[in-house]
Amino acid sequence: MGNESRIEALRKEINQHDYRYYVLNEPTIADVEYDALMKELESLEKAHPELVTPDSPTQRVSGEPAVGFEEYLHLRPMLSLDNSYSIDDLGDWVRRCGKLAGEEDLDYVAELKIDGLSLSLIYEGGQLQRAVTRGDGVRGEVVTGNARTIRSIPLRLADEEPLPAGTIEVRGEVYLPMAVFAQINAEREEQGLPLFANPRNAAAGTMRQLDPRIVAERRLEIFCYQVLLDGQPPFATHHESLEWMEQHGLRVNPTFARCRDLEELIDYCSRWNEGRDELPYEIDGVVVKVDQVRLQEMMGATARSPRWAIAYKYPARQASTRLLDVVYQVGRTGAVTPVAILEPVRLAGTIVSRASLHNRDEMERLGVLKGDWVFIEKSGEIIPQVLKVITDRRTGEETPFDFPADCPVCGVELIRPTGEVVSRCPSISCPAKIREGILHFSSRRAMRIDGLGEALVEQLTLPRQGVPLVSGIGDLYRLRERRPELLDLERMGAKSVDNLLDQIERSKEAGLARLIFGLGIRHVGERTAKILANHFRSMQRLMQAEPEELAGIYEIGEVVAAAVHAWFEAAENHALIGRLEGYGVRMVIDDDNGSSSGTVERVFEGRQFVVTGTLPTMKRDEAKSFIEQRGGRVMSSVSRKTDYVVAGEEAGSKLDRARELGIMVIDEAGLLKLGDPTQ
Ligand code: IVH
Repeated sequence: MGNESRIEALRKEINQHDYRYYVLNEPTIADVEYDALMKELESLEKAHPELVTPDSPTQRVSGEPAVGFEEYLHLRPMLSLDNSYSIDDLGDWVRRCGKLAGEEDLDYVAELKIDGLSLSLIYEGGQLQRAVTRGDGVRGEVVTGNARTIRSIPLRLADEEPLPAGTIEVRGEVYLPMAVFAQINAEREEQGLPLFANPRNAAAGTMRQLDPRIVAERRLEIFCYQVLLDGQPPFATHHESLEWMEQHGLRVNPTFARCRDLEELIDYCSRWNEGRDELPYEIDGVVVKVDQVRLQEMMGATARSPRWAIAYKYPARQASTRLLDVVYQVGRTGAVTPVAILEPVRLAGTIVSRASLHNRDEMERLGVLKGDWVFIEKSGEIIPQVLKVITDRRTGEETPFDFPADCPVCGVELIRPTGEVVSRCPSISCPAKIREGILHFSSRRAMRIDGLGEALVEQLTLPRQGVPLVSGIGDLYRLRERRPELLDLERMGAKSVDNLLDQIERSKEAGLARLIFGLGIRHVGERTAKILANHFRSMQRLMQAEPEELAGIYEIGEVVAAAVHAWFEAAENHALIGRLEGYGVRMVIDDDNGSSSGTVERVFEGRQFVVTGTLPTMKRDEAKSFIEQRGGRVMSSVSRKTDYVVAGEEAGSKLDRARELGIMVIDEAGLLKLGDPTQ
């Protein structure tokens, strides 16, 4: 291929990857591969400057702004970083910096490279005016409403000392903690929605939600890494900027370190490469920055990235291996999940032999065949994913998979409701569903019966002389009568049996929301269960609710309403509730019991509220104490300082004023949600 056509091919390929990465949030190649394409293009263009065109990907910072948001021209372009993948590359960069600095003082700051999306926060007079995504680096999307729901973004900068006059711009990385990511995906799986591939995609997808309430639910976080005053760094060194941000209520990652030379940088990089699995968020490397702003200015930037900073990328947690087989697992809701059985391969410090294929559609999209070589990736806490098939390595010996028509556990024909990606076993007596149902019921987020692990549930549900000890969650509360048989089970001594029975007894007080969640009703995740519990306050009332009443509750849609209603209509479920009630399981909510933990976090610290209109269930005083208990202040009139207006029916002029000032308006359910960080 001639240089010209290779350049063309590279540009086309890079543009496609940019689109998949920035617009669809669905990259199909690893960063290393992308960088290799970019490097090749850069060096070809360097050798043939006459072939450089203004629309070449080398001439801009990549990405396309998404639709649906107002655009905003960044005060200064949001550049990306050059990547280095080896200590040698990092060493080269450090030597270049040394040469440029000459006799001047040269230090570095090393920071973790958080895997999220960058956000620019504009503060005027100390108040958050605007939050803008990076977009294409020059123009971003205004997502202020969404940013305001992120609790670690201060709506006002701390100003014990007077703030400098001018526009303060803070840049940082918004990310999703891994635990929240795992939880969101578990809920999505339950609801038959496609899963997010990794926390970064989930965070990027969330920031592009047009409804800030969804963003609030997702519990994003931010780490700030840069501050600019009227477009310029306000201090002589970068570390002073970090300290200033810390002092003004901005969240800075505390792991940053000042380093004097390559040796100290290498030490930092390798320390965090080992420590990264213990972090509650994902990092993909380290960012090294020249500390002295004078030197940063001297070194300048290319069109894409500054010369005074570099990303040292950790080896990708990706690997290739052979797909030996697929097994089909049946979950609590009967959902059948295909799981890839792999030739064991080392990945991110563990040996991986299984990976999720999610569902039939995903298997078809990937086009996997038995015996294929596949590319797998580990991200977040979830099990590894199959990224793609390496078709070049096919030998012709590979054979197709048949997705089963019948339940692989009980043999009943699977159903796939229209519009859903999941095939399910409809049988209520499927042993796999019963087992998973009990595990869910006793899980930490539901009734919290700690002693009830997988191995024990397996034994309890296994038929013994034709009948299992437990054939549904109701039977758990009768286990006290079966003590002798429990003692017969493997690895069950008197102590563990008594412990288990105690835990089961204690679970009776877990509370209504946990119980509703534990029942495993389709579409009813933890949050929905809380909303239902708060609204109905007793199981009896919930059971009697008609679909219209359910659908009338804020944030309960028709699908959820229908699922809840159908669940309580079924005779066996009705009977189950009756049995649980008979065993003394708590089925009503009293006001102290509403939040499961007892102690409330001061999540509203520093925030001002105005309550107006008639709220659906809370009295004005209740709303006030709910806010105050959490550290917030309730004011009587709306001003620029108001953070939230809680509006009910007939809200009137205060609501108009809030809209005029662009203040976030929420309703009662929004207040409850904001106030309960476990939601
Ligand atoms: S500094 C000009 N610091 O990485 C300086 N970036 O690949 C540019 N990132 O767009 C950014 N953690 O979204 C910086 N501690 C950190 C970072 C960080 C994550 C992201 C940021 C940037 C991307 C570049």
